[in-house]
Amino acid sequence: MKYYTATYGCQMNEYDTALIASMLERDGAISVDNPEEADAIIVNTCSVREKAEETAITHIGVYKPIKDDINPNLKIVVTGCMAQNRGHEIMRRLPYVNYVVGPDQYRKIPNLLFGKQKRRYELEFDREENYVGESAKIVNPYSAQIAIQRGCNKRCSYCIVPYVRGPEKYRECSDILREVKDAAGRGVTEIMLLGQTVNAYKDGNEDFASLLNRISDIDGIRRIRFTSPHPRHYTDELLRVLIENPKVCHQAHIPLQSGSNAMLKKMRRQHDMDTYFGVIDTLRSADPLYHISTDIICGFVGETDEDFEQTLEAVRRVQYDTAFMFIYSPREGTESFKETEILTEEQKKARHTRLVELQNAITLERNKLMLGRTETLLVERSSSKDDSEMLGRTDNYKKVIFPADASVKPGDYVQCKIDDIRGWTLRGTLVK
Ligand code: SAH
Ligand code: SF4
Ligand code: F3S
Repeated sequence: MKYYTATYGCQMNEYDTALIASMLERDGAISVDNPEEADAIIVNTCSVREKAEETAITHIGVYKPIKDDINPNLKIVVTGCMAQNRGHEIMRRLPYVNYVVGPDQYRKIPNLLFGKQKRRYELEFDREENYVGESAKIVNPYSAQIAIQRGCNKRCSYCIVPYVRGPEKYRECSDILREVKDAAGRGVTEIMLLGQTVNAYKDGNEDFASLLNRISDIDGIRRIRFTSPHPRHYTDELLRVLIENPKVCHQAHIPLQSGSNAMLKKMRRQHDMDTYFGVIDTLRSADPLYHISTDIICGFVGETDEDFEQTLEAVRRVQYDTAFMFIYSPREGTESFKETEILTEEQKKARHTRLVELQNAITLERNKLMLGRTETLLVERSSSKDDSEMLGRTDNYKKVIFPADASVKPGDYVQCKIDDIRGWTLRGTLVK
């Protein structure tokens, strides 16, 4: 059986696609890069904003002609957050979809595809399902994403994730260490730990700080990253490990959402700006080049001009390396969906544009701070069509392009002097 996958949404979905891939391959399936060659197509979808759902619907439609014209036996499986959220509607609107499968039911996919099961919906939440014993397929030979938490209990008032991913579950520490060792045994040196509030991790006596230390003790692991931490769950011990453990990279994605305490309260974020700035100040005073990125929502219900100015002010104060900036999208079923919006789409867009312009200028300034430095890069890939250039990342997650060298291949760690900046791109030369 040949299978093809398409993934939308966050790294959690990327991990899950790799998990499904490894389960299918254990049963003998082979992955293909061309959907026209596939016997099964798995589309892993996202629901976080309305646009994400529209994109997924349009995308699923692309596979209909393959089923109509090339392979009438093609099985189309829609998985992920939108399958969970709108599975029955997907079946109604797109009758050529064979199965919709939610995030807790992926173990059933091999049986759906290889077996004779006719049931078309697998959407139950399972409080126990943590995919114990499974290892996601290693897609990238030197860097692996590993989920340590599934679901979310926070219920921020704008967010659909807890409804489509179910309640928070932490994976057993021993199972995480097993998957990391497995990946390290295959040559992986960089680990990205995943969870919606990843730093709230707990399993018996283990917390996130102790988990980081345990992973850093595994032979072969050289870099550890994680996403997304929640500002409320930075303990003093965690901050100490982040600063002192040399394998934990100086990079953090710390969602801001809004710089206004009134908005944070309305969003039910469970922290205020003092807590937020406290975390940032600790990290940046330990290392001024600590890479900090964020997520921001513009035009949330009730956001006044003053609230928005406070967001801009927070962005200026933090000096983010990069930011993902979103226009508020009301999601049915969430708490804030019921509230009447006062801002028009144009007003929301205008705020978004101002924010993006401010952040773009800051990103450029932050990149300039890297000029002249010699950094260790983990080489990721070729970065030009003719293979004359390669791309690597610094510990603090900056992309650097450098002229290719016959002795350097993806997965290597090299020394590189950063000597130029073109647009947003840092460029360097290898130091031998
Ligand atoms: N668990 C992470 C966020 C996961 S969702 C956290 O707590 O930060 C990724 C991002 O999507 C969020 O950080 C938020 O900025 C954005 N987002 C979530 N719901 C949204 C909505 N209804 N409209 C616009 N952006 C939203
Ligand atoms: Fe959504 Fe909040 Fe959970 Fe993040 S912490 S996934 S924003 S509910
Ligand atoms: Fe989207 Fe689900 Fe992630 S809604 S952002 S794919 S958890």
